[in-house]
Amino acid sequence: MEKDLEKKVDAIKEFSRFANQYDNYNIIQNEVAKTIVEQLSSKNYSTIVDIGAGSGAVYQNIEKRKIQYQEFIALDSVQNMLDIHPTHKKVTKICADFNTIDTFNFFSVNKSGVLLSSSALQWSSSLSMTLNELSKKSLHAHFSLFTSSTFKTLHQVAQIESPIYSTQTIKETMSQYYNCSYEVKNYTLTFSSVREMFHYIKHSGVSGGNKQLSYKQMKHIMRVYPLDYLEFEVLFVKAESLFYR
Ligand SMILES: C[S@@+](CC[C@H](N)C(=O)[O-])C[C@H]1O[C@@H](n2cnc3c(N)ncnc32)[C@H](O)[C@@H]1O
Repeated sequence: MEKDLEKKVDAIKEFSRFANQYDNYNIIQNEVAKTIVEQLSSKNYSTIVDIGAGSGAVYQNIEKRKIQYQEFIALDSVQNMLDIHPTHKKVTKICADFNTIDTFNFFSVNKSGVLLSSSALQWSSSLSMTLNELSKKSLHAHFSLFTSSTFKTLHQVAQIESPIYSTQTIKETMSQYYNCSYEVKNYTLTFSSVREMFHYIKHSGVSGGNKQLSYKQMKHIMRVYPLDYLEFEVLFVKAESLFYR
């Protein structure tokens, strides 16, 4: 029993908001993007597609690890994010929404390519639709999704439901379209005050949890929140499509 507890504590990766003053709001996402790229099994791909590419954390890690590719497709629904994403002759940027079925006509990946999505698919309004379409596009895929255990204590204190999918729901949905192996990673991010914490939540784009909170609720939580850190849970998925033709 004691051993299990130890394991869990060891498994939590801790960050401090002030450990890295640069790119502060993306500390956890950057770590997640690094991990998803480390999990790639090949050093050479025809095409790499990044769904919800944002400002390019996945791309940067691909470059850092010297992973080769002929084309990198960065897809995101927010043009401002794509504008920040590194530009290169091998990079194609597609501004499109993964909640819209037409989006999946805009790219294709052959057998020696890979599809990635890091910290984005928790925003899929229908995970089933999105994964169904993605599974037709690429044989190999790697996903990371924040789960409903992100901001767990905060949601408990506020007595609200997480707006994002649980680990169980993600696994059940994934398994309809892919053969998968899973890994759950937990992270904490420490703050010097609860006010700082709320500021972070507002700007991080990790979870829309606080959008559901009224000003009065926020005030209450700021008084009673028992931790000096925020909790994050991420599900990493290595997936092989059941529907790729
Ligand atoms: C938390 S960021 C992660 C960005 C990047 N993948 C990373 O690892 O840093 C989530 C990204 O998903 C994008 N996104 C959210 N909903 C989307 C949608 N429906 N279609 C396409 N992109 C979406 C956002 O614009 C944002 O850039």
